[in-house]
Amino acid sequence: MKSKAVLLGHPLHPMLIPFPFAFLTGAVLFDVVGRFGDVSSWWITGSYLSAIGIAAAVVAALPGLIDYVWTVPPNSSGKSRATKHMMANLSAVTLFAVAWWIRGHTTTRPDVVVLALEAIGLGFLSAGGYMGGTLVTRNLIGVDHRYAGAGKWRDETIEARAGQPVTVAKSDELKIDQMKLLRVGDRRIVLARTERGYVAFDDRCTHKGGSLAGGVMMCGTVQCLWHGSQFDVSTGKVKAGPAEQAVRVYGVTEKAGEVRLLL
Ligand code: FES
Repeated sequence: MKSKAVLLGHPLHPMLIPFPFAFLTGAVLFDVVGRFGDVSSWWITGSYLSAIGIAAAVVAALPGLIDYVWTVPPNSSGKSRATKHMMANLSAVTLFAVAWWIRGHTTTRPDVVVLALEAIGLGFLSAGGYMGGTLVTRNLIGVDHRYAGAGKWRDETIEARAGQPVTVAKSDELKIDQMKLLRVGDRRIVLARTERGYVAFDDRCTHKGGSLAGGVMMCGTVQCLWHGSQFDVSTGKVKAGPAEQAVRVYGVTEKAGEVRLLL
């Protein structure tokens, strides 16, 4: 099962982000040229671009928030980058909104305060955009990668109590080398199928917190895609760094066609 939140957040956020970027950058350009060239049609256009850009930013932020809460691995370098990305973008939108409010009517010539707020806002927007790009290219947030036999991304929320086995899959649900992310309370656990049966381990790479469910698994080894660490999925031991600590593994049994996880 693929989580609805992942479906909503992943593709929409990167798709929507170019709109506020284009409109708000355009607003600064038109306001500056309008103000210093004394061309009212330019600053009027700038005012409209600013309003549309702020609205577009709010719309783009919603799937971004879903990604932030649901997709970005907790306690990871990606999470702290995502927090800074969010703060930079919120600051940018706030500054543009204040500038738009100060200028009042669309026909009012933007003064130096308005232009300064917009310029600082553009700086925050650029910094936020740079971090957003890194979240995609390095932390693979919003990337739907594939490798041989991986199947589609699976993600399921499970209710479990410590010490009590809980059914987490049918025996034939995963093929060899496929993985499924289990959300158990505030824990993220990977259920994976190897040539020797099912295994379960923490989703958190011990290097900088990358998602192992989002990694690549082959021949009993899972590789984190953030910096390449490899772990033995049966024992959790590190097979290749930069990670130095083993990942935690969990007990898994198969009975009557069901896979059961023991926390
Ligand atoms: S987070 Fe760096 S290798 Fe996994």
